[in-house]
Amino acid sequence: MKAPADFAQRVVHWQRAHGRKHLPWQGTRDPYRVWLSEIMLQQTQVVTVLDYYPRFLARFPEVQALAAATLADVLALWSGLGYYSRARNLHRCAQEVVSRHAGRFPASALALAALPGIGRSTAGAVAAFCFGERTPILDANVRRVLTRVLGFDADLAKAANERLLWDWAEKLLPGTGHASDMPAYTQGLMDLGATVCLARGPACARCPLADICAARLAGNPEHYPVRTRKLVRRSEDWWLLLQVDASGRCWLAPRPQRGIWAGLHCPPVYTQREALDAALQGAAAEEWPSFTHVLTHRDLQLHPLLLRTATPHGAGAWFSADQWQALGLPAPLRKLLQQLKNKLI
Ligand code: ADE
Repeated sequence: MKAPADFAQRVVHWQRAHGRKHLPWQGTRDPYRVWLSEIMLQQTQVVTVLDYYPRFLARFPEVQALAAATLADVLALWSGLGYYSRARNLHRCAQEVVSRHAGRFPASALALAALPGIGRSTAGAVAAFCFGERTPILDANVRRVLTRVLGFDADLAKAANERLLWDWAEKLLPGTGHASDMPAYTQGLMDLGATVCLARGPACARCPLADICAARLAGNPEHYPVRTRKLVRRSEDWWLLLQVDASGRCWLAPRPQRGIWAGLHCPPVYTQREALDAALQGAAAEEWPSFTHVLTHRDLQLHPLLLRTATPHGAGAWFSADQWQALGLPAPLRKLLQQLKNKLI
């Protein structure tokens, strides 16, 4: 495999002419803003982040404000973005930046990667965007671009091959005299991966790398990246016991700090129908339609039930609509509670 000599220049020129330049986290070199955007963008589409990002910044305009917030407040603002460990790490990271770095993000990818929730690629992105550091990124989009251009077909399920690809990412960076190109280069790789080098049906006709792309030349871009291990999806049944009192308040408790929806508020969850029936002891609960909620490694089959009661089952507290709306809630539960509220009005 050979590194195409002008790879970086092509990416930089293409980004300046055709890349995305008006996203709200561009045009700033403030590491707090860039870091926040990168964390939000990790598993979430740009259109969704465009909605959450300004609200989050309005509430927490700098890292000190985020560090001083309660986790519950952070989770409430994160509610609906999913992957809540990101929000917990975000909060811990802000606290470390304040307590260990006097409120200033460290200015190197290596030091950034030592903070909670910041992996090597996110650290690279922040360092390249904010400090012009010559350091690579390798998220899912960039992995696709690089493996295709290089014709890198080693199995990325193996850590050794992933390390080799990181080495390539390093070799392809703009030259040492071109550190000022780092932001455009980094954004260019992301933009190519997101808008041109698509997983299915890549738009090679619009790609500045088409004539040096090994995968395109071989006619099999969709063959890359190669990764053998498939996620084994499991399915679980969850009965959600929605309990309301006579004034329409709902009975909710925070989930345990580990596992699915950690720390978010929920009604009692039963994973066995028998356990639910034992708790209900014949009380008449109204069964709502079941639906599937898809998580990364699991499908949750959710079965909501409504029980009107003054003596609720399980740990928890009563929350009025005004109160639960301000809590961190899993997205499907927020929808259910909204339906419940509409039904009660
Ligand atoms: N995905 C990850 N980082 C991004 C960025 N800076 N701009 C657009 N999409 C991204």
